[in-house]
Amino acid sequence: MHSRRSLLYVPGDDRHKIEKALTFGADCICLDMEDGVAQNRKAEARRTVAAALRELAFGASEKLARINPVGSGWEKEDIESALPSRPDGIVLPKVESLEQVQWASEKIEAAELANGWPVNSIRMLVGIETAKAMLALKEIASHPRLDGLIFGGEDYAASVGAVRTAEAWEVFTVRSLVVMHAKAFGLQAIDMVTVDYRDLDRVRREAAFGAQLGCTGKQVIHPAQVGPVQEAFTPDDEAIAKARRLVEAFEAHQKEGRGAFGLDGQMIDMPLVKSAQNVLERAKAAGKR
Ligand code: COA
Ligand code: MG
Repeated sequence: MHSRRSLLYVPGDDRHKIEKALTFGADCICLDMEDGVAQNRKAEARRTVAAALRELAFGASEKLARINPVGSGWEKEDIESALPSRPDGIVLPKVESLEQVQWASEKIEAAELANGWPVNSIRMLVGIETAKAMLALKEIASHPRLDGLIFGGEDYAASVGAVRTAEAWEVFTVRSLVVMHAKAFGLQAIDMVTVDYRDLDRVRREAAFGAQLGCTGKQVIHPAQVGPVQEAFTPDDEAIAKARRLVEAFEAHQKEGRGAFGLDGQMIDMPLVKSAQNVLERAKAAGKR
């Protein structure tokens, strides 16, 4: 699965910003046709996204296209214009049922078959951002084309009439449930946007907390957020060394026939070993040894 510590949105009708987006080393770039694009620019966005996917070199960054929600009336033209340019994946925002995921997946499969591309090679991520989506989350998350769930904090708050605050308690429960469902189905959990893009301390704090919750990455909307966010989802050298020492000690004790043991005054058994292995896996996914 492609690493998506940062998922950078770019308004799909803005070729200048799209070209610029390629230069920040973001794991994943998402060309947006939904809310980042004005209603009277949707057709322009479709053309610009299709051309950018075809013409530009994304390097190591994954290239995604976000279409408008199923039921908006724009979704069919959006997905049909993006697919022939072979994006790495499609982002479907504001999903509320498994049927909507199936609709998009069938469109994608038709394009894969028509072009001789491997079936299931174009991946899907879905935006979980309404109360209804939360009710259908288990069905939605079960779809085999999915790589990840994306939590839309602002949209969710708007959908239930919550007031967004810096502490984010108003979205805490659903944010955690998105992580829970993602992990239950082996998916990535991509955390909410920090809209306050000039406050880099805030994005750093929010990203660190998202990582603590089990999120694997975070949506970003401004180039300045890419670095701090990727850092928050990459274990530092100290954490890696600690995890490696723990795993090695565990293996040594297993050979001696001991399951639980003490290390630096802490009781170590299976759950802590699993957490240490998670750290090493995240380090590896981030390209650190
Ligand atoms: N992708 C690529 N480049 C971006 C960018 C993005 N998401 N956001 C800003 N930039 C570029 C700007 O174009 C500018 O470069 P330039 O001087 O060569 O034009 C530079 O980075 C600095 O930008 P800045 O002046 O600080 O911000 P801005 O006022 O140009 O843009 C936003 C602010 C919020 C409009 C912009 O960040 C944006 O469009 N974000 C994405 C919005 C979006 O897609 N929303 C939907 C998903 S939630
Ligand atoms: Mg949104």
